Amino acid sequence: MPIIYHENSRTFHLHNNKMSHIFKLIDGYPVTLYTGKAVHDQEEFDCLFETSARSMSVTFDEERPDYSFEHLKLEYPVYGTGDMRMPAVEAEAENGSRLLDLKYQSHEIIKGKPELPDLPAVYTEKDDEADTLLLHLKDEKTGLCITLLYTVMNEYPALIRSAKITNCGNETILLHTAMSLSLDLPDAGYDMIELTGAWARERSVVRTPLHEGIQSVYSLRGHSGNNFNPFIALCRKNCTENEGEVLGFSLVYSGNFLAETCVDTYNTVRVRMGIHPNTFEWNLTPGESFQTPEAVMVYSSAGFNDMSGTYHSLYRKRLARGYWRDRTRPILVNNWEGTYFDFDEEKLMSIVREAKELGIEMFVLDDGWFRNRNSDHTGLGDWITDENKFPFGLKHFFDSVRNEGLMAGLWIEPEMVSPGTDLFNEHPEWVIHEPKRPMHPGRNQYVLDFSNPEVVDCIFGKLDKVFSEVRPDYIKWDMNRSIGDLYSPTISHQGELTHRYILGVYRLYDKLIRKYPEILFESCSSGGARFDPGMLYYAPQCWTSDNTDAFARQKIQYGTSFVYPLSSMGSHVSAVPNHITGHITPLSTRANTAYFGTFGYELDLTKMTEKEKEEVKKQVVFMKENRQLIQFGSFFRLRSPFETDETVWMVVSEDRRKAIVGYYRETKGRNEKFRRVKLSGLNPDLIYHVSVLNRKLYGNVLMNAGLVLSDESSPECDKEKGDYISRLYILTAE
Ligand code: GLA
Repeated sequence: MPIIYHENSRTFHLHNNKMSHIFKLIDGYPVTLYTGKAVHDQEEFDCLFETSARSMSVTFDEERPDYSFEHLKLEYPVYGTGDMRMPAVEAEAENGSRLLDLKYQSHEIIKGKPELPDLPAVYTEKDDEADTLLLHLKDEKTGLCITLLYTVMNEYPALIRSAKITNCGNETILLHTAMSLSLDLPDAGYDMIELTGAWARERSVVRTPLHEGIQSVYSLRGHSGNNFNPFIALCRKNCTENEGEVLGFSLVYSGNFLAETCVDTYNTVRVRMGIHPNTFEWNLTPGESFQTPEAVMVYSSAGFNDMSGTYHSLYRKRLARGYWRDRTRPILVNNWEGTYFDFDEEKLMSIVREAKELGIEMFVLDDGWFRNRNSDHTGLGDWITDENKFPFGLKHFFDSVRNEGLMAGLWIEPEMVSPGTDLFNEHPEWVIHEPKRPMHPGRNQYVLDFSNPEVVDCIFGKLDKVFSEVRPDYIKWDMNRSIGDLYSPTISHQGELTHRYILGVYRLYDKLIRKYPEILFESCSSGGARFDPGMLYYAPQCWTSDNTDAFARQKIQYGTSFVYPLSSMGSHVSAVPNHITGHITPLSTRANTAYFGTFGYELDLTKMTEKEKEEVKKQVVFMKENRQLIQFGSFFRLRSPFETDETVWMVVSEDRRKAIVGYYRETKGRNEKFRRVKLSGLNPDLIYHVSVLNRKLYGNVLMNAGLVLSDESSPECDKEKGDYISRLYILTAE
């Protein structure tokens, strides 16, 4: 039983064979005793309870001068009754008081994992995959009831947390803060890992020691954003990719978020994760509930690769859903970088025919297919085909693509509207802005008020019309600006807008998926500005970045892989000089990078030379042969591009009989140092044939002694001249 309650000591032990989380009820308050590597269960863990009399503290009561909320480790803390740190929940009663006294009422331990209404969430397929504790707390004075949900996944060292907050009183309560997770750890000897970035350089890995005070990553952009990802990890100082203790925190949410650590001056740390409390409030009338998104905490005692491996397989198998979840992804060509807005049906068909010759499986029609869309200044919102580009209609084009034997996909940006469109003129009130204040454009466009169900239904109707006509196999759902001018005329508490907006986005996804369950959705937001677990629930893949330069991409994909599986990373080969960096990298290196994802091309195939086309044909064959292994195998980071000018990573098949090592080097040095890299995830006792070297080596030789990278005597390495080289080592067990 992974969730045990010891009645006598009032202790909860949530565990599987890898991790334990233990807390105890003290006077009805849930107090954390331990979070970390699995420990044996015992009747009580009272020796882990720590408190201390300290001057200035606000204490429990007169009898217990050494009991203060400030110095207890708390499961779901409140501010104002002693705890001076940041709270998990803040709620305002009608008299303006924000005081809460949340005490245990009861609990339930159930099999499986309940769904979260209207929110993306990890799920189980069978009840024996997980157990869930529902811990019911109540503030008697206001009647505010909070159920803390804790799911222990049996197969994964993951603890999934959220809170359901219900007004069981008679007066209205205004929620100001409602965290998904709050966790107090007994010491602060950690480094914090975060994934930071911007457009075209998403998700760089940044590691900083925790220090006294607050460190956080967040979004106030209305989407999760490319500046910070809704993820942090706390790792021990000695933690590396393969060794050491690390706790990952990942929020299954696509809107404004906060992930924060607060180190007090007594060497403890509080982690908070959830909807960002700035810009958030929620009005709860009697009887109403608010469900927070969920936070997925992963524990590993074996380094970052192990933590990432848990996220990869949990998110691939139990967060992503539907028809495409377990299917390898079609190799596509997307016309964006090939043509931008400058195309017509004839031009596109020439690309389609070329794609067919090369073995490519799907054509994706990107931005520019709808009326007036010859630049990014107009067109969004009406979703009517441009008759100049498609004189016989969009269906005719889709049929023609299919007649060539390819699947056909389409780009949309449903949350946006351009000035000058019919939608904009007919419904100015549907644009997020405050009347009488100036509206601020972003990429020349405005954001539709998805907090208003009428708007979502209208856009659904427009898209449904297109989808039912052309039956796309794939949809790229874009979102190209952050949200400002926050105001909606249809909601009374403006602090609800950003969360209601994202619920509207989820609702539209849900409606489309229900009606078109076989469409492969790829989310996108100017590249990877909404690459988050919430999106993965609806769209199993995401366009990782607009930056398709091979070496920029290695960094982006490397950072992304901290949380997200390869099957979720949209990755394409594009033309050179690269449109963003201007770098000219070999076609082989571009493909060797893009293989580690969903794989496709994003260029005008008709402009390639015959020699390049021959190479592309081979690449397509290679990916078809290996995509099952790449997209559904175990991925390991071996050398970081953030630390050296080399990237090395590898993927190993489930049965560990085949592996592919990707090696990339940005600059060619002179009289270079020796280099080798220790591999991971192989079967130590199997002998592998290693391509490039053309040698046979035991798994444990490759993992313990390493793969020599600087042996350039092999014929393949001999061909390497100049910068931007890459190699794939294919390992096949005998
Ligand atoms: C965004 C996407 C690109 C492309 C353009 C089209 O920038 O990230 O891939 O779809 O929009 O406007």
